[in-house]
Amino acid sequence: MEYSEKVMDHFMNPRNVGVIEDASGVGQVGNAKCGDIMKVYLKIEDGRIEDAKFKTFGCGAAVATSSMATELVKGKTIQEALEVTNKAVMEALDGLPPVKVHCSCLAEEALHAALWDYAEKNGVKIEGLKPPV
Ligand code: FES
Ligand code: FES
Repeated sequence: MEYSEKVMDHFMNPRNVGVIEDASGVGQVGNAKCGDIMKVYLKIEDGRIEDAKFKTFGCGAAVATSSMATELVKGKTIQEALEVTNKAVMEALDGLPPVKVHCSCLAEEALHAALWDYAEKNGVKIEGLKPPV
């Protein structure tokens, strides 16, 4: 299996691993294919994502995509963060082997779940965000 240099870099030195104690939103999802779990924490201030962290029991591809996804959403507005899709994350990583594509879903799904959690806690509506399944 071939991994890009960027995937290897984010797997070997993952960014933003950990927990945000006073997170504005937390999202946890499970991967239907492998049963692995991903948790994303967001710190949101004035509609902007100030910090993002993740914890996963997932594989290397899940680690690399979450590392990249959390890097990409930091500093973005909520609407901009919704554009950080798993496709965008995979492009930023120069691709993933086809059998690992489902792992990349975890980052996007957990990110969306964390945004949903934030919206519920704060009574705001996020345009275009679907409830977590
Ligand atoms: Fe489970 Fe990749 S095999 S997240
Ligand atoms: Fe693979 Fe979402 S986890 S489709």
